[in-house]
Amino acid sequence: MLNRRNFLTAAVGVAAATGLAACAKDDGGSGGSGGSGGSGGDKKITLGFAQTGSESGWRTANTDSVKAAAPEAGINLKFSDAQGKPENQISAIRSYIAQGVDVIAFSPLVVKGWDAVLKEAKAKKIPVILTDRSIETSDESLYVTLVGSDFTDEGRRAAKILEKVLEKAGHKGKVKIAQLEGTTGAAPAIERAKGFKEVMDAEHKDDWKIVVSQSGDFTRAGGKQVMQAFLQSNPDINVLYAHNDDMGLGAIQAIEAAGKKPGKDILIVTVDGVKDGFAAMAEGKINAIIECNPLLGPQLMDVVKKVKNGEKVERWVKTEESDFMQDQAKAELPNRKY
Ligand code: AHR
Repeated sequence: MLNRRNFLTAAVGVAAATGLAACAKDDGGSGGSGGSGGSGGDKKITLGFAQTGSESGWRTANTDSVKAAAPEAGINLKFSDAQGKPENQISAIRSYIAQGVDVIAFSPLVVKGWDAVLKEAKAKKIPVILTDRSIETSDESLYVTLVGSDFTDEGRRAAKILEKVLEKAGHKGKVKIAQLEGTTGAAPAIERAKGFKEVMDAEHKDDWKIVVSQSGDFTRAGGKQVMQAFLQSNPDINVLYAHNDDMGLGAIQAIEAAGKKPGKDILIVTVDGVKDGFAAMAEGKINAIIECNPLLGPQLMDVVKKVKNGEKVERWVKTEESDFMQDQAKAELPNRKY
């Protein structure tokens, strides 16, 4: 597994970035015509972007951000939606290579399985930027940089905020946690579980336990279905840690259908911070949210231009995020941008 923390100042990454960019085609991809696009040349940069799908509110906001930022930056965007299937993402990347785009960006559905197609991009001297999610690779020169969040830290922050939630609720006794994991094999699922466990094992070994943990695939329907099963097998669950708001929102429906009160009988911590999550938190149904910012479009376009111009970029361009407790929800809700 690629350790994102190792990349902060990685000289290797910078070398890979500048090397790839220096070799990158500058004749635009298909559709690259007119306007400088800030690329330093006369032609617009053409960016091929392979999105995961539309599994969550976060993803919708991310797609909207990328689609809005490209024309603002003067970049010609080719966009594809893999509908949750890694093989579709691979086909989209192959198609961008065949079209000769200037730069490829994608949000890898899962961490494994990218080396072959990324080697094809490298052979054609097309630089690749990861957005949102990382990959596991044997050859780190296959991509230039990652623009996205620190998911392991989000997991740690989730555990730390749960301490506050438990204290605020006056919780006494064992903490029996149900974990709704994201898509199996995806970086945010792996890393959010890892960060949470790290804090739990270090600081709460005796009183906290994850009693059930299963993937809800980052969807509302998945969260509802898996939570129904959790409640049947473990009716004494008193905490839910959901790897995203959508699964948490689905779980809330299951909890209410089981005659329990979300946010009271079962304390809930989720990740993302989409408007629907904040609305549920304002109603008292979610206790805390760890923000994961999907508005990566402008940052991505900046990086695309730098890479195309052969400028140095950090190996990992991180996003800034906050944590929110329930008592902040009402005031914060009108400010949410996604
Ligand atoms: O990769 C980011 C994750 O993907 C978000 O947290 C989740 O909602 C989305 O589907």
